[in-house]
Amino acid sequence: MAGNKTFTMIKPDAVKGGHIGAILAKINEGGFKIVALKLTKLSTEKAGEFYAVHKERPFYGELVEFMSSGPIVAAILEKDNAVEDFRTLIGATNPAEAAPGTIRALFATSIGENAVHGSDSDENAAIEGSFHFSATETF
Ligand code: RTP
Ligand code: MG
Repeated sequence: MAGNKTFTMIKPDAVKGGHIGAILAKINEGGFKIVALKLTKLSTEKAGEFYAVHKERPFYGELVEFMSSGPIVAAILEKDNAVEDFRTLIGATNPAEAAPGTIRALFATSIGENAVHGSDSDENAAIEGSFHFSATETF
């Protein structure tokens, strides 16, 4: 059975662009409950660790640099079928391919600077959530 939690980050491009409020509104309108939330900044070390799964990919260096370039918003979200439904709400990695009305279609500028992160499995949602939040910060 699919889990009911996912993890997201509003990436530095969308924070810089002033889209925190609009993206959180889309998240709520999509039926997700915010159970943990913070404005924070990743060091290059932490960004490298978070995206370690992509270490061998050609865009890894660029990704780590971008994700540590400014503040992000981290959040844990709750909804039935959270991982899959959230990836539907955010749209394809490349905003040019993202369905109309999705968060990436509305706010992303490129495949690299694509406004939001969404976990890709229940297992990674749990790992990524505890990477950013302690038990007392999660409700
Ligand atoms: P995310 O993990 O951030 O939710 O994105 P995703 O699952 O849709 O895409 P993934 O394949 O996991 O890639 C992680 C992030 O790396 C950047 N990327 N850049 N320049 C490129 O070709 C490229 N490809 C991926 C994006 O920021 C992507 O979200
Ligand atoms: Mg991914």
